[in-house]
Amino acid sequence: MDHRMRVTSALIYLLLLYFAHVHTFIPGVDGPVSHQEALEGGNTTLLCNTSVDSSADEFMLLVWYKNNAPIFSYDARDDREWSSETFNSNGRLRADVQSQPTTLNVSALRQDDQALFHCRVDFLVSPTRNIGVNLTVIVLPGQPFFLDELGNKVENHIRPYHEGDTLVLSCLVIGGRPPPRISWYSGETLVDASDGSSDIPNVRENMLYLPLTRENAADLSCRASNTKLAQPLIRKLQIELYLSAYNVSIHWVGGTDGETLTAGKPAIVQCTAYDSYPQPELSWWLDHKHLTQHSNQTWNSRIRKSVSFLELTPSVLDNGATLACVATNPAMAPSRGSKADVIKLNVTYSPIVEISRVGEGSLNSVVELDSLHLECEVKANPPVSRFRWYFNDNKIISGNMWGDETYSSKLVIDEMSKNHAGVYSCAASNSVGETRAEPVTITVYYPPECAGAGISLIKETIKCNVKALPSPDTFFWHVQPTGLDVQHLTTGSPILPLSQVTGPLSGTIKVSCEASNGISSQYEACQRTFSLERLRPPQPRQCDLAHEYGEFQMRCIPVENATYYEVSVWRLSTSNSSLVLDRRGSMGFGARQEPLAQGIEKGVSLTPQGSWLVRGSLGGLRPTDEAGAAACNRYGCSAPLLLRLEPGEPPWWHFILERDVGISVVAVVLVLALAACCALAVRALRRPRAKPAPVIQLLQLDDVTRNYLGTMSEHKVRASSSIRSCSSGYSERSAFEDTALAPPVDRRRKPPAIWRDSWDAPPPDVTLTLHRESAV
Ligand SMILES: *[C@@H]1O[C@H](CO)[C@@H](O)[C@H](O)[C@H]1NC(C)=O
Ligand SMILES: *[C@@H]1O[C@H](CO)[C@@H](O)[C@H](O)[C@H]1NC(C)=O
Ligand SMILES: *[C@@H]1O[C@H](CO)[C@@H](O)[C@H](O)[C@H]1NC(C)=O
Ligand SMILES: *[C@@H]1O[C@H](CO)[C@@H](O)[C@H](O)[C@H]1NC(C)=O
Ligand SMILES: *[C@@H]1O[C@H](CO)[C@@H](O)[C@H](O)[C@H]1NC(C)=O
Ligand SMILES: *[C@@H]1O[C@H](CO)[C@@H](O)[C@H](O)[C@H]1NC(C)=O
Ligand SMILES: *[C@@H]1O[C@H](CO)[C@@H](O)[C@H](O)[C@H]1NC(C)=O
Repeated sequence: MDHRMRVTSALIYLLLLYFAHVHTFIPGVDGPVSHQEALEGGNTTLLCNTSVDSSADEFMLLVWYKNNAPIFSYDARDDREWSSETFNSNGRLRADVQSQPTTLNVSALRQDDQALFHCRVDFLVSPTRNIGVNLTVIVLPGQPFFLDELGNKVENHIRPYHEGDTLVLSCLVIGGRPPPRISWYSGETLVDASDGSSDIPNVRENMLYLPLTRENAADLSCRASNTKLAQPLIRKLQIELYLSAYNVSIHWVGGTDGETLTAGKPAIVQCTAYDSYPQPELSWWLDHKHLTQHSNQTWNSRIRKSVSFLELTPSVLDNGATLACVATNPAMAPSRGSKADVIKLNVTYSPIVEISRVGEGSLNSVVELDSLHLECEVKANPPVSRFRWYFNDNKIISGNMWGDETYSSKLVIDEMSKNHAGVYSCAASNSVGETRAEPVTITVYYPPECAGAGISLIKETIKCNVKALPSPDTFFWHVQPTGLDVQHLTTGSPILPLSQVTGPLSGTIKVSCEASNGISSQYEACQRTFSLERLRPPQPRQCDLAHEYGEFQMRCIPVENATYYEVSVWRLSTSNSSLVLDRRGSMGFGARQEPLAQGIEKGVSLTPQGSWLVRGSLGGLRPTDEAGAAACNRYGCSAPLLLRLEPGEPPWWHFILERDVGISVVAVVLVLALAACCALAVRALRRPRAKPAPVIQLLQLDDVTRNYLGTMSEHKVRASSSIRSCSSGYSERSAFEDTALAPPVDRRRKPPAIWRDSWDAPPPDVTLTLHRESAV
């Protein structure tokens, strides 16, 4: 069997050789030719139809040729396969003759497998069939690589460029059959397909000239392809391209009402910068002032996003300020690498209010009847919606003493009155709040005007009472004492001492004063007429008579404020029963027009009690004469104290004092006296009221004096006598109680008696009638 097999094989081989030599396949003539491509190293399947045309026929033999050399056969008659050992190395042929069409798969294809294959099919009846397959074995090119302009090899990464730079780069590919096409892609976009062969044999290249932009620099790749059977060979290139931020934007993220800020309230603002490479530095600026209180910057390198947060507490002054976020690329020149977003701050705040005065004059004072125009100066955002004015903390309501315009920023008062003086304030409100301005105190100045009675007399000063603002600084006086010319005086204070008025002031004085305070002088002078009577000294109360040096002396205890004393002697007329003024003179310190001086003066001596005595000479006196003493000063004289000489017997009631009589007698006398008093009082009340009557004291004369009076012309006084007074003014402790205690008298000097040459009329209150009545 083995032997037989070997013989048959040899036979077929010879047969094939014969055919090979004898028959060459002519494409298109011997049979159709199809094209088929396969990759080097890959496999391809050659197809050959062995089906019979009729059932009577029979398939006998299938032979495959490569370039007319047999490589595989199958004999259907004995179901035997044969393959060329040189072609079918490593058993790379795999045939399936049962399927229709039959297949012959060739794997591990080599470059030299590219050839014209054909199959020949022999039938029992039908003629031989030939089918050609033109096989192209594709050789893939090598990996693309990059060379820069200078021919240096570039790896996957290329040096930094700036936007706008032109990238010049070659992509090269070695080998490949057919020669590959080389193209440049940016992402999936073809940017350059202009390839060609290079100077080096078997190498193709594509040189790229690409102006770099933010968009095209992302994924640059070179693709080489010479078949559809395999994916193109791709080499990617990373370009480091410095980019300034594409956009920078500022957003409020907290503490605001939309875009609106509130003064003093912290707000958070975010700055986002996209698409910068490398990471930008975000900086904050507020009106060109660098802010550093921002958060740490975050950076997302994948989407090239940087974020910075800033907490901002705006002040009123920041309203309208510009807030800028600047993204600076540290790898680039500042002029190229910076991009910024700028927003204007809208800071709202409660109004800021201040009062000012429109027009001339100080803010705090205004003259009466002038107009006052106040303005509520306001700074506010949003604008003020309402104004209000306050006077002494009360809301001003238009009308009355206020104008109509009291709800605007202005307050106009056409004519200021004193009632308008006070504290003014205004309030302004907007949607944020209401603010009251610092109050302004406004003083209304007005010219002087009389207050109350206008002029008053206090002791010896005249006072001009005026109301004025500011206080008057000058007072003009017109003073006219009775019977004298008007005197014009000016003082710097409202007080005019009477000492500045010249002349005697014994009557009335007519005074007018007019003040001036620099605003205006007084419209109407204050006027008043005063009687100066009350400035006269009080009536002397303690006087007596003494008989010394051959004449009577009037001695009085001085009264306050008397500058001199007037003495007078009244005598009963011989023709009628009237008292007539006989003599008048002055005593005491008349020459010096001043109240009681210290030390011993002329006519003044000291009593044992330490009080002073004034004494004046009266000359001779007769019984029933009356001697008067009045205290005087420049305002005139007091009512005189009259002493009447009573030379008669001691009074009938003398015994009450002398002897011890029963209390009953006294009681009877008192009852009678009371009845008399009542009767007198009733009479006195019925009579018209007159001026207070001068006091008349009855003096009881002692025997010596009475004798003297009897023999007046020749009598010599041996000793001075004191006369006891009935006046209640003399107390029991009086120095004149006893002769022994009589005051010491300077006997060498006679008290002065200044008798006047010309007699004035009696003082108005010392009239004859009054004397008589008072004496009752
Ligand atoms: C032939 O090549 C194809 C792809 O080209 C592959 O899928 C198949 O497995 C290969 N066959 C053999 C027998 O190698
Ligand atoms: C076979 O294909 C090659 C190219 O792959 C071509 O040059 C040749 O002429 C073709 N032969 C025939 C017979 O078609
Ligand atoms: C900024 O650019 C990014 C992409 O670069 C975009 O998503 C974003 O909307 C842009 N923002 C603005 C405010 O234009
Ligand atoms: C910022 O970063 C520093 C350290 O890098 C850290 O100490 C600090 O707390 C951070 N600040 C904020 C607000 O995150
Ligand atoms: C600021 O914000 C307030 C409140 O939203 C608004 O009334 C006002 O018009 C804004 N001012 C500006 C200048 O945008
Ligand atoms: C005397 O004058 C002074 C000053 O004017 C006065 O205070 C006093 O009351 C006067 N005395 C009498 C008793 O009038
Ligand atoms: C009384 O007499 C005197 C002269 O002795 C005389 O001046 C006076 O006017 C007389 N009075 C009356 C009321 O007659």
